[in-house]
Amino acid sequence: MPARQILPDRGGPDLCGGRRTFTGCYPARAKIVHGLGWAGLVLPERAGAVRISDLEVMRAKRTSLVHIIYFSRLNLSADPTKRSEQITEIGRVAQKKNEFSVITSFLIIEGNFACQVIEGERSSVHETFDRVSADQRHRDVQINEWREIAKREFVHSFKSAQRTATNEGLFAKANLLPMLQRGTPKATAIHGLCLALQNDAMSRQGIDHLFI
Ligand SMILES: Cc1cc2nc3c(=O)[nH]c(=O)nc-3n(C[C@H](O)[C@H](O)[C@H](O)COP(=O)(O)O)c2cc1C
Repeated sequence: MPARQILPDRGGPDLCGGRRTFTGCYPARAKIVHGLGWAGLVLPERAGAVRISDLEVMRAKRTSLVHIIYFSRLNLSADPTKRSEQITEIGRVAQKKNEFSVITSFLIIEGNFACQVIEGERSSVHETFDRVSADQRHRDVQINEWREIAKREFVHSFKSAQRTATNEGLFAKANLLPMLQRGTPKATAIHGLCLALQNDAMSRQGIDHLFI
């Protein structure tokens, strides 16, 4: 029987070793060779034999983690008290929804801009982002990066940060505001500042060593 090509498909870290694409991790040359109830999974690196059913179980168990990094312009009140209440309300609802969907995230509010990293299982991230991008409290929502990730990097369902006297140095170093004003923030700059702010907050609480 001729060998059947396995199409690249959503992948987790297992069996990865060859060409890695956005949606898949099987090397394009991977083949199932049918036999007497068995299939030889011919990978360049690890030729071996697995039963079809085992292969299907392996596939079913794989979840794919992705993250979305986006930025937007906030439509919040100019009144500082009202604005602060609005931000608290966004966080209150986001926290609950993200916990339910096993989403982890970090939101930066810089001037009149929002930037957020949302990470989790692919369909949960997409559902969350669909809701977030339709929210009237911000506009011009633009995705910077959307890709598979090997592991989560954020520990909270929802955390947000704005410039304060204590984190001013991190904001200054990232220098995001001019990039946001030009409409060209780099995903690495947003991601890097989110991580730096998370690490800073955790080390202030003395719990950073738990998350190495
Ligand atoms: C800047 C910004 C960030 C948000 N982040 C999240 C989030 O991480 N998760 C979430 O569920 N909702 C988030 N929200 C709120 C959603 O847009 C939405 O209001 C909420 O999920 C409730 O959706 P629903 O009214 O359709 O149930 C965010 C809103 C804004 C403006």
